Amino acid sequence: MALFRLALQPKAPFITRRYPFRGRRRMLEVLGPDLARPVGMRAEDGPPEDSAIGRIFETTGDIHKLRHYLPIYEQALGHTERMLEIGVDRGGSLQMWRQYLPDATIVGLDINPKVTQYDDAARDIHVRVGDQTDTAFLSSVLEEFGTFDTVLDDGGHTPHQMITSFQYLFPRLKPGGVYIVEDVCANYWTPYRDQPESFIDFTKWLMDAMHAHYMQMKSVFHLMEGHPKRVREMQVPLAATIIDRIEVFDSVVVVHRAKDSKPLPRASFS
Ligand SMILES: C[S@@+](CC[C@H](N)C(=O)[O-])C[C@H]1O[C@@H](n2cnc3c(N)ncnc32)[C@H](O)[C@@H]1O
Repeated sequence: MALFRLALQPKAPFITRRYPFRGRRRMLEVLGPDLARPVGMRAEDGPPEDSAIGRIFETTGDIHKLRHYLPIYEQALGHTERMLEIGVDRGGSLQMWRQYLPDATIVGLDINPKVTQYDDAARDIHVRVGDQTDTAFLSSVLEEFGTFDTVLDDGGHTPHQMITSFQYLFPRLKPGGVYIVEDVCANYWTPYRDQPESFIDFTKWLMDAMHAHYMQMKSVFHLMEGHPKRVREMQVPLAATIIDRIEVFDSVVVVHRAKDSKPLPRASFS
């Protein structure tokens, strides 16, 4: 719990309006009686699962992560050559990435100027200071380091911060790359909720955007190979062509960028 509290501790007092999550009652209604039935959920104190990244995590120190994130990272970071982590804090996670991804360039950014002490160009760990919602700053980071294939947002954890960084960085991610937003649990805690729409809500919009082409079709004939009504081209939001898939875990959303611009789907009926 101490780890969790620290991980999400805001650095400055909030002065703007906050928006409590009000969807619990509706969620229970929509789940229906079987899925909404109250059951116990217990804390576990057994030994953590053994894994390559877990062993690095145990010995590195100065990191804020929930333990169940580790296998999610293992799955998502496989092909990382250039990684950007938003949120450096005490620098431990940069050390963890350095060990886990020995050949990758590791870049961290943070709003707190104290993090410059973790800049270590000789070991290909780079730290830059700026606000994750400042797109001019993000642009300067991309200009300096080039395109990232992995972005991990472990920054300020408000929906405004998460969404603004994603809107700017995801379209600039390397094709085939991965964008990870962690601690989305903070979306349910009022002090972190700086706007009515959470990152979870935004994720649902991304899922809608993945289906944007269907919004403009009226029948399956528009997709059917060889059919006279087949649609050959249409205007869709960029998101529809670059989001390959979205994975939602407990407190972590992983959005995979497609390797190539996605074509319209095609139907075949034999
Ligand atoms: C949870 S800590 C990062 C922990 C680190 N990634 C780790 O795993 O050890 C969050 C960090 O985000 C930074 N932060 C908060 N708001 C930010 C913003 N608007 N832009 C960039 N960084 C921000 C904080 O200064 C803090 O160091």
